[in-house]
Amino acid sequence: MTVNVLFSADAKHFADWVDSLNAALEEARVKSEIDFACDDPAKYDYVVYSPDGGLRDFSGFVNLKAVLSLWAGVETLASNSTIGCPICRMVDPGMIEGMTEWVVGQVLRHHLDFDRFLDAKPGEWLQHLGPPLARDRTVAVLGLGQLGSDCARALNSLNFRVLGWSRTVKNIRGIDCRSGNDGLESAVSEADILVLLLPHTNDTENICNASLFAKCRRGVVLINSGRGALVDEGDLVAAIDNGTVSHATLDVFRQEPLPAQHPFWTHPKISVWPHIASETRFRTASQVIAENMRRGGAGEPFLHVVDRQRGY
Ligand code: NAP
Ligand code: GLV
Repeated sequence: MTVNVLFSADAKHFADWVDSLNAALEEARVKSEIDFACDDPAKYDYVVYSPDGGLRDFSGFVNLKAVLSLWAGVETLASNSTIGCPICRMVDPGMIEGMTEWVVGQVLRHHLDFDRFLDAKPGEWLQHLGPPLARDRTVAVLGLGQLGSDCARALNSLNFRVLGWSRTVKNIRGIDCRSGNDGLESAVSEADILVLLLPHTNDTENICNASLFAKCRRGVVLINSGRGALVDEGDLVAAIDNGTVSHATLDVFRQEPLPAQHPFWTHPKISVWPHIASETRFRTASQVIAENMRRGGAGEPFLHVVDRQRGY
């Protein structure tokens, strides 16, 4: 049987994906036809979905077996009431690898105080500012899912003391895992560097607010590669101004692209990154999508199904 697929994404992605997706589907023995523009919504078995494709109303897609997200974060899909079939989020080994590299890079930037040395004036010999060892630095990773747990392990392998926080308690070798409000407060109170890798849900919206910043160690560095809505922007600026947060490295924002006039661009203690911490890598991700279509055909449970109640 031929599976009909709508690949709903910005056209700039098509060239990258088409060959690798077709190859992965062939390898998984899934016979498919992929459309890059919507023909008759009722004909599709799957929508492979990226938010930049612009599709919002799924009500005509009455025969869908699943929506397969190209993104790990699915806040807009999870709350989309026009979707009546399972939603699978992206768990891509390539994306995990990329996120770990980005987070480790950002942690090392702050741990080693690269900016201070790069900004040194001629003759400013800052030998007294040599960094401590990683073992003397505590990093808290909020969100210990696919991405956060890999980052936590990598940081721990560099000898950082790593605390992790998640909804359910984890058991990850070398990581001091916590949960609940007490776990959150104790983790942030011990952290020199705070990494956000939580999804955006009703429970995590504005989780980094004045009351959480008040529990943080003075001078904490914030690295947010989760979602912009995790952070209350006004409370962050206030926490920087009062010295609680020494620097915020932000890859994600409430509005993206971040408007040119947004004050974060010029704030001396905020670094703006254009949501590039880690993208889905088409080679590895194609296999995940093909495997889910194979499962759909074989009547096996899909991988990475979103719990829409929880929102991730
Ligand atoms: P995931 O596997 O679903 O992990 C989410 C983690 O957050 C889990 O550990 C979960 O706890 C925890 N969590 C969720 N709600 C919580 C709550 N209310 N309290 C405490 N912990 C909570 O997701 P992922 O694949 O690691 O991705 C995480 C997020 O990264 C995505 O949702 C997306 O927003 C973001 N992202 C950003 C980029 C980028 O380039 N910047 C790229 C990809 C993804 P449990 O394990 O107990 O459920
Ligand atoms: C990117 O931010 C993603 O959620 O995949």
